[in-house]
Amino acid sequence: MQHMESDHLVLTSVRRDFNNVAVVEDLSLTIKRGEIFVLLGPSGCGKSTTLQLVNRLLDLDGGSISLEGIDIETIDPVELRRSIGYVIQQIGLFPHRTVAENIATVCNLLGWSREETHARVEEMLRLVDLDPGIYAGRYPHELSGGQQQRVGVARALATAPATLLMDEPFGALDPIIRRQIQSEFRQWVQELGTTVVFVTHDVDEAVLLADRMAILGDRCRIEQLGTPLQVLGQPASRAVEQFLGHDRVLRALTVIPVTRAMTENADGGSPQNQGPILSSAASAHDALTLMLRNGSESVTITKSSGTSLGKVTWHTLIDAALKAQEGTT
Ligand SMILES: Nc1ncnc2c1ncn2[C@@H]1O[C@H](COP(=O)(O)OP(=O)(O)O)[C@@H](O)[C@H]1O
Ligand SMILES: [Mg+2]
Repeated sequence: MQHMESDHLVLTSVRRDFNNVAVVEDLSLTIKRGEIFVLLGPSGCGKSTTLQLVNRLLDLDGGSISLEGIDIETIDPVELRRSIGYVIQQIGLFPHRTVAENIATVCNLLGWSREETHARVEEMLRLVDLDPGIYAGRYPHELSGGQQQRVGVARALATAPATLLMDEPFGALDPIIRRQIQSEFRQWVQELGTTVVFVTHDVDEAVLLADRMAILGDRCRIEQLGTPLQVLGQPASRAVEQFLGHDRVLRALTVIPVTRAMTENADGGSPQNQGPILSSAASAHDALTLMLRNGSESVTITKSSGTSLGKVTWHTLIDAALKAQEGTT
């Protein structure tokens, strides 16, 4: 397969067997530099196996994988794993090392200077919203689950790896903390320009995080590939539709910016706000929630300056939902 300039990770007819049975059969996939690519599929379909083939914790039984155009089988596995961040559900923080020592792990392996490492540890702690003055010297057991997971992510991102593999990293967190970390995660990796391959079986998580996603069936067969809105709006099959759930249209609203579901003010900024007010950074789903909660027929959308931009009504919401289903948003 020809290597394109924007390709970061290319899987070509990848196969892996266990006990002579294929658990990943014929997976071909191109992940572009800088994107968050989500592998979404039911438990046991081969997602974790696929990630482990990428960082060579497992060997291929067929096909090939290339990273930035280089066949990974020509790269020393230890070196490869140092260059790729890997976050799993069981966090895997070293219990007898402090938070700072944990985050510094790969920096030390790569021979960074003490000053450089120290500065990076502080930067990473701030990135994941943990005050270095409070948390750097703590041990993992002195943190909550959510804080431990933040440290796990900070450790994986500390050397600003070009590639980050994440295997259901937020699965063990309680729903509120999980949602908070998910919503911050996109920003963390975008700041570092990292390409992310993110594995989950949670549709909401996939929709929230993905630039593009692949819906996987048995043995990692690709059922559908596209942006969250493409997949939610136009499921490729009954199977995909069922997997996404009967409320997939509601889910689609979570990825539609509210500004795509409103009518703009005719005069470009009327001061008279009617009904509840919502920021233009919100989603169409946020507007729907607000209308239901307030029993209101409409929501006024405002810029951060407070100027009113337009209005969402039941009508404009239904319009946006229909467009999403047609894949025309
Ligand atoms: N070390 C192993 N030995 C034998 N079978 C395995 C091994 N690891 C995974 N499998 C099997 O491969 C399949 C895919 O597993 P996995 O990649 O962990 O799925 P997922 O992460 O999508 O839940 C499962 O049927 C699992 O039982
Ligand atoms: Mg798994």
